[in-house]
Amino acid sequence: MKAVEIKPDIFWVGAVDWNNRDFHGYSIKKGTTYNAYLVRDEKTVLFDTVRQGFKGDLLHHLRQLIEPEKIDYIVVNHVELDHSGCLPELIELIKPEKIFCSPMGKKVLLEHFHRPDWPLEVVKTGDQIELGRRTVRFIETRMLHWPDSMFSYIPEEKLLISSDAFGQHWATSQRFDDEVDQAELLAHSAKYYANILLLYSPLVEKLLAQVQADGLEIEMIAPDHGLIWRRNPSAILEAYQRWSSQQARSKAVIIYDSMWHSTEKMAKAVLSGLQDEGIKEISLLHARKNHRSDIMTEVLEAGAVILGSATLNNNIMPAMADVLTYMKGLRPKNKIGAAFGSFGWSGEAVKHLNGYLEEMGVELVGEGVRIKNVPTHETLADCVELGHSIARALNGTAGR
Ligand code: FEO
Repeated sequence: MKAVEIKPDIFWVGAVDWNNRDFHGYSIKKGTTYNAYLVRDEKTVLFDTVRQGFKGDLLHHLRQLIEPEKIDYIVVNHVELDHSGCLPELIELIKPEKIFCSPMGKKVLLEHFHRPDWPLEVVKTGDQIELGRRTVRFIETRMLHWPDSMFSYIPEEKLLISSDAFGQHWATSQRFDDEVDQAELLAHSAKYYANILLLYSPLVEKLLAQVQADGLEIEMIAPDHGLIWRRNPSAILEAYQRWSSQQARSKAVIIYDSMWHSTEKMAKAVLSGLQDEGIKEISLLHARKNHRSDIMTEVLEAGAVILGSATLNNNIMPAMADVLTYMKGLRPKNKIGAAFGSFGWSGEAVKHLNGYLEEMGVELVGEGVRIKNVPTHETLADCVELGHSIARALNGTAGR
């Protein structure tokens, strides 16, 4: 591949990882990219590096533009290893005059690489460095996605190098938003938000408000993963506004696992009840047939989360525990929900599912429905009624 000029004398020099399918438990079905950027000016700066194993791609791109030894500075916007995995080798080669990072970045770099001899220079929000014709202004963005994260803003170019924020895990030969299918781009962005940033939504809201208050002019957003927003950066800014507010939509997600299809019959009866009351957007997701990260993407804008599980060994099915442990960590907000499940003798699953819902702050609609062994047309009526109740509650709460 080639380095790609994204603004005059500013280049994408990162790597495309076509084969990665798992990003610490997040299923990335179409790979990802590790974006790095080079700014050529009186001082030449490399923004971030790439994951270990991709040094060759980064160097191949850099050498099309400059001998790496001639790079003056490295900016580490984020220390997570997908961006700093080959930082030690790059530092060895480049011998940069300075390495800029946030205060937490310095701490985390030292904890990862144990190299107090590196020329680390701490920058805080509002600090800036002069490159010649351009300036780089730093904005700390704690917890987006780690405590060390920061943005680099180049005002002369109205360019925001945004680290993990506004990215997507999507390996493509294209580099810009206007070169790909818009619906797929938004879908990858939503999945990324649901699985990486949802937990930090209050901080995202605060950051977006600060960007607006500061009147930061943004013509291009260059994230560390996926496509660069050149045609329509406001599309992703607006989407982040919506996702971070966690406003509930009139959408229900039913997540379940079944042993011998009885809980599955209950799930379908709940769906039918929701439809009776006019809910159009419903996802029925078997926990063993849908990846936890795809389930979270469906949960992102849903107003209702409904859980079903058979009872197994006095507990819920293991795949449900996997999904719910993951979901609880991402702290979805503004949801209503309920639980249901079939059982053979003890039947604790609904109690456990209600416990998960309560821990997540989900407003419960009823105590849930339990059916012993195989449901009949008559007993499934309770599940249909549960669907009715949730739909009525959802129609009352969606959009609030
Ligand atoms: Fe792309 Fe938080 O690393």
